Amino acid sequence: MALLTIENLHKSFADQVVLDGIDLQVDEGEIVVVLGPSGSGKSTLLRCINFLEQPEQGQIRVASASVDAAVARNRDIQTLRRQTSFVFQNYALFKNKTALDNITEALTVVKGMSAKDAEEVGRKVLSSVGLADRADAWPSELSGGQQQRIGIGRAMALDAPLMLFDEPTSALDPEKVHEVLELMKVLARQKRTMIVVTHEIPFAREVADRIIFMDGGKVIEQGTPEEVLDNPQDERTRAFLRQVL
Ligand SMILES: Nc1ncnc2c1ncn2[C@@H]1O[C@H](COP(=O)(O)OP(=O)(O)OP(=O)(O)O)[C@@H](O)[C@H]1O
Ligand SMILES: [Mg+2]
Repeated sequence: MALLTIENLHKSFADQVVLDGIDLQVDEGEIVVVLGPSGSGKSTLLRCINFLEQPEQGQIRVASASVDAAVARNRDIQTLRRQTSFVFQNYALFKNKTALDNITEALTVVKGMSAKDAEEVGRKVLSSVGLADRADAWPSELSGGQQQRIGIGRAMALDAPLMLFDEPTSALDPEKVHEVLELMKVLARQKRTMIVVTHEIPFAREVADRIIFMDGGKVIEQGTPEEVLDNPQDERTRAFLRQVL
């Protein structure tokens, strides 16, 4: 069953068309990896799904929330946002909050949870991302890999139906990439519905149910990892894969 449905999504910045009519469905439990060259619109697509960017046109449905971009009302956007959680390339942690508080903040502020309940969830999540002993650490005291595991923990704690990852490992030192990918594999095995923008091709091959290749604001082709990685149909996909492989 489709958890996410995007119809005819359009987004421009000034006179530059960045998303040029995207149609996309993601099923519950599906793990979709988005590939594409720099500037192809991958981040913008993720950001439009939860209205971090406002598209001009298109329909977005996640679970029971639905927004028509042309007539988007604030209340509907808020409802849509609660269906998603976002993991950023640069972690986007609050520097003046501890690891635990970075996770509990959204639970109390967005979900209206009591401080006590939020702390309980926060500590559980910290332990599932392997950082139970770092609850009181400041982001500056954590490695990039640990900070990103907090970023993922924050998204997990929200327990939204759809998780969005925008190049979660590309700011990390090479030796820290593995720990973050391993955590994402755990989420994948739990059948969390995820859309992941990444250049980690081996990860995509192992974990993705489907790979989508974007260029110029369009979905150029999509299929299983074998189809897209081993037998790409479009010359643009082939050129991209030659570069990254
Ligand atoms: N806030 C913005 N204002 C103006 N232009 C923007 C903005 N955000 C993105 N763009 C432009 O939109 C295009 C697509 O950007 P986007 O970040 O979605 O690409 P991307 O596929 O994620 O690239 P990368 O692999 O480098 O992250 C680029 O040309 C970019 O310069
Ligand atoms: Mg990007």
